[in-house]
Amino acid sequence: AEVVFVDSEAAAGTLAAASIRALITRTPDAVLGLATGSTPLSVYAALAASLAENPLDVSRVRGFALDEYVGLPADHPESYRSVIIRDAVVPIGLTPENIQVPNGDLATIETAGVDYEAAIRAAGGVDVQILGIGRTGHVGFNEPGSSFASITRIKTLAEKTRIDNARFFSSADEVPIHCMTQGLGTILRARHLILLAFGEEKADAIAAAVEGPITSSKPGSVIQLHPHVTVIVDEAAASRLE
Ligand code: F6R
Repeated sequence: AEVVFVDSEAAAGTLAAASIRALITRTPDAVLGLATGSTPLSVYAALAASLAENPLDVSRVRGFALDEYVGLPADHPESYRSVIIRDAVVPIGLTPENIQVPNGDLATIETAGVDYEAAIRAAGGVDVQILGIGRTGHVGFNEPGSSFASITRIKTLAEKTRIDNARFFSSADEVPIHCMTQGLGTILRARHLILLAFGEEKADAIAAAVEGPITSSKPGSVIQLHPHVTVIVDEAAASRLE
């Protein structure tokens, strides 16, 4: 992977946003792979600021979210459908109808994964996938033990991940136990991966992803199998790299 060291989240956002802007300039109907959580916020903010300063038509851009909680109503404020709309679609000015999120509805859970894969394929695949990484080493919600060939499917969140995500709910107990997540195989099919990480608590996960053995017990290490990966890290997240 190409590892880029930055001294702030804002600088990381500016870099990633410039790459996405260049993609949209070349390909006005580009397919973005969108992540939720705190990590990508600087990217979305920088892209929004760049578009405000120097407009570009993004109305045809398409997007696929990485994951969704199972069992939260889609209109719950912390469903990833709601989060993606609030954090990315609205500030960037994307067309909501062009954005898909895995379906976490229990009634259709058996077919939701295969349907999502088909939708990604029908769109021509993901041009650039934005990724964060969890303390467990997960990308998407592919917790340790996920197959490198996996497709979108239901997974159980690690207890550590539920505790980390409790900040978005009133308690860890309210964080759903299950999720629908793109698989590591799905992520590998995106044409460019941009993995961002900030802070000391991500340092072990970044070292394992970038330099560790390729193993499903460190799902982030899947990036070593991909030909075009950009890792953008601050000093603290980079602190355990060789
Ligand atoms: C989010 C996702 C997760 C997060 C990871 C880091 O869609 O799939 O892999 O990227 O849990 O979360 P933050 O960025 O909140 O530290």
